[in-house]
Amino acid sequence: MEKLIGLNKIRTAVFISGTGSNLKNLIKFSKTKKSPIAINLVISNTNKTKALKYANQNKIKKKVLNFRNNSIAEKNILKFLDREKIKFICLAGFMKILSKNFIKKFNGKIINIHPSLLPKYKGLNTHERAIKNKDKFGGCSVHYVTSKLDSGKIIIQKKVKITAKDNSTSLAKKVLKQEHKLYPTAILKIFN
Ligand code: GRF
Repeated sequence: MEKLIGLNKIRTAVFISGTGSNLKNLIKFSKTKKSPIAINLVISNTNKTKALKYANQNKIKKKVLNFRNNSIAEKNILKFLDREKIKFICLAGFMKILSKNFIKKFNGKIINIHPSLLPKYKGLNTHERAIKNKDKFGGCSVHYVTSKLDSGKIIIQKKVKITAKDNSTSLAKKVLKQEHKLYPTAILKIFN
């Protein structure tokens, strides 16, 4: 039987491709009393990620879809989302670009975490670019997903100081630590 704490929470799916530290952190957050969301489904575009173990450990349903054909993959995802009555989607290191059509079906219900102070550095290699440009701050942003890459309305951001000693690896590590705080804060901001 579902624990009382999980009842009435917003049924949420997390989409991943990578190491899944944000997934792990969102699962932990979802189990707290203050969390408005429950995580009921994990979607991955690869079975090579170790992050799927977090779904297993927490008895969360998971689906792996190869994106050789985007529209077939998205059709299948929509089927799983419907089956699990998913109402909200968190992208967490998901490396595939969702189609306009898919996003329209979940309009305003998909959010993403991006490792830069948007609108700066959309896309990849954000930390390298910030360092190369001698920026004083890097950071992370949680934003709504629209059909334009990393361009939807920003929900919340966190700045991280770049020091002379930083390289892209050290900066990524510092930013990721902040991401783990920022993603739950963004979700609380949306629903409270
Ligand atoms: C994070 O830096 C996130 O901002 C970006 O991809 C990375 C995913 O890390 N979109 P993880 O898989 O959650 O550890």
